[in-house]
Amino acid sequence: MRNIINIGVLIIISVGLTSCFNKKAPNYRYMPNMYTATSPKTNGEYEILPNQQANMLPAEGTIPRGWKPYEYENTIEGKALATAELKISLEITDKNLAEGKELYAIYCALCHGDKGDGQGILVKREKFLGIPSYADPGRNITEGGTYHVMMFGLNSMGSHASQTSEKERWQIVMHVLDLKATLNGEPLWSETQKDSMMTSLEMVSEDITPIVIGTEEENTSEEH
Ligand code: HEC
Repeated sequence: MRNIINIGVLIIISVGLTSCFNKKAPNYRYMPNMYTATSPKTNGEYEILPNQQANMLPAEGTIPRGWKPYEYENTIEGKALATAELKISLEITDKNLAEGKELYAIYCALCHGDKGDGQGILVKREKFLGIPSYADPGRNITEGGTYHVMMFGLNSMGSHASQTSEKERWQIVMHVLDLKATLNGEPLWSETQKDSMMTSLEMVSEDITPIVIGTEEENTSEEH
C-alpha cells in the first residue's frame, strides 16, 4: 500500500513538473539578468528618464574629442570678422598642399571648378548657378573667410564641417588661395606664405617649429 502511494505521489510530481513545459517558449531562467540586460537600451523608452527617452543629447557644453570650439558666429558680422582676422593655423608643407588639392577635388570642384573659376561640372550642366570665381574682386576671399564658409556654408553652399576635420579644412584653404592667386596671375599664395614664414622664423631661431593644429597625436610634441 505504501509503495502504491509513493509511486502515485511521484507520478503526480513528475506530471506537475512537465505539464507546463513548452518547447517553443524559453524554459526556466536561473539568472534572467544574463538574458535580459537591465541597462537601458540606446533607443529604449523608460519611465524613469526625462521624456522617457534613453537616447538623450549630450550635456550642454560637451566637446567631442579632437574638436576645437569655433568662436566666430554664423552671422554676417561673424563672417566679416573671420575674413579679416582668422589666420591659418597649419604649417604650409607640400604634404598639406597635396592633401588640400585632393580634398578640394572631392568636396568643392564639382561646383567651383578645378581652377576655382566657378565653372564646375554642375555649373556647366546648368544644375547649379551663382557660383563665384575665387578671383572675384568683390568677394575678398581670405584664409579666414574660406574657413568660415566651410564651417557654416553660405546661402546655397552647404556647410562642410561634418565631412571634414579642422586640419582638412585648413588644407583646403591652402589650395583655394593658391587657385585664387593663379586666377589673378600672381605667384602661388603658399609660396609667398612659406617665404614670409621662413623670414619671421629665422628672426627668432633656426629650428623653431610653428604651432600645428591637428589631431591629438600630432599635437603631443613639446611646446616651444
Ligand atoms: C553645391 C555647390 C558648392 C559646393 C560643393 C561648394 N560651394 Fe562654395 N559656394 C557655392 C555658392 C553657390 C557660393 C556663393 C554663395 C553666395 O554668395 O550666396 C559659394 C561661395 C564660396 C566662397 C566665397 C565666399 C565669400 O566669402 O563670398 C568660397 C571661399 C567657397 N565657396 C569655398 C568653397 C569650398 C572650399 C568648398 C569645398 C569644401 C566649396 N565652396 C564647396 C557653392 C558650392
